[in-house]
Amino acid sequence: MSVPSDISDPARAREGLDRIDWAAREMPVLALIRARFARERPLAGVRMAGCLHVTAETANLALALRDGGAELRLCASNPLSTQDDVAAALAREEGIPVFARRGEDGDAYYRHIHQALDHGPRLTMDDGADLVATIHRERRDLLAGVAGGAEETTTGVIRLRAMARDGALGYPIVAVNESDTKHLFDNRFGTGQSTIDGIVRATNVLLAGKSVVIAGYGWCGRGLASRARGLGAHVTVTEVDPVRALEAVMEGFAVRPMAEAARHGDIFVTVTGDCRVIGAEALAVMKDGAILANSGHFDNEIDLPALEAMSEGRRRLRECVDEYRLMDGRRLCLLAEGRLVNLAAAEGHPASVMDMSFANQALAAEWLIAREGQLEPAVHELPPEIDGEIARLKLRAMGVAIDELTDEQRDYLAGWETGT
Ligand code: ADE
Repeated sequence: MSVPSDISDPARAREGLDRIDWAAREMPVLALIRARFARERPLAGVRMAGCLHVTAETANLALALRDGGAELRLCASNPLSTQDDVAAALAREEGIPVFARRGEDGDAYYRHIHQALDHGPRLTMDDGADLVATIHRERRDLLAGVAGGAEETTTGVIRLRAMARDGALGYPIVAVNESDTKHLFDNRFGTGQSTIDGIVRATNVLLAGKSVVIAGYGWCGRGLASRARGLGAHVTVTEVDPVRALEAVMEGFAVRPMAEAARHGDIFVTVTGDCRVIGAEALAVMKDGAILANSGHFDNEIDLPALEAMSEGRRRLRECVDEYRLMDGRRLCLLAEGRLVNLAAAEGHPASVMDMSFANQALAAEWLIAREGQLEPAVHELPPEIDGEIARLKLRAMGVAIDELTDEQRDYLAGWETGT
């Protein structure tokens, strides 16, 4: 099967199919949606562009969308997250055009985004809002044909809300990240585990007894802090939000400003969604040998230009580990070039959480097409019933039963007359 594509190694398609199948075993909710989509074809003839991490989990989403009738083109949402075997399997065996190569440079990254847009999508699906941004900046000719888009991640939602606030957003977006069955699981348990996985695969360091500094205590930071503690690390959290900081304190974590934490940490991980969270001042006081990693969407959370400027040399010590030799003789080790360590040095979140995230994505696509032309060009959330349904299906697949309200309990909750 030959479709337009730009992938690294077509010969790895067989390996990719096995990897996609392995992930599918942990994605029962998406499988049910895929089977229904194949029967009902809610996306028949809908041209879609997806800018997502090209992983085995994303491949299962792509197959569900395809079986629902969508004509999907896929590009990567990060230059280092593409699984080349998966890209090959989709392009060569499944008939899905893929424009993504692991390790692509900035020019190729944006060329691939344009190629994913070249068929004029009616729906966009982003992880970080690069499709939306490119359409609004450089491909405005496509705007009139776009019915809607879905956004996967916190960083993307922040960008899109800013566009909506400025009146710049040209079509409706579903913020999939805001669904409970997305952020409570993917951001917390997914990022928690996969970030540790990335650090450990890159370095093989023992976390027990290490001082781990986590910048950001959103859902990702919460998950990561809890997993690092579980492995025996001494965890310090840095925050700017007083409520989140207080929550971290009461969870039993040390909370300090970065300037102070920087002196003590063995391993630093940024998960804030903001820029320059580890800046020159922090880099200036870190211990010799400190390890720096980022698990936020963009590679600007650690001030890489400052790190470069302070360094007299750099060498690649292991795959995904670059040692910077500073002018004062200290060495700092940067993982995965400051890009998402969980996807660049490991395989991203496990399929079991992506099952729920991508169930939301598939249902968001269906929801948007069913409301084509009726939605404001604003950031929307999926209705809570969809969350409830995804959670119910996931529990059932896990063999977990829960109780139901009795009629009496339902009436009690709906009433106001009963008191002490
Ligand atoms: N984001 C985080 N983990 C992911 C994965 N495994 N696949 C796609 N996107 C992801």
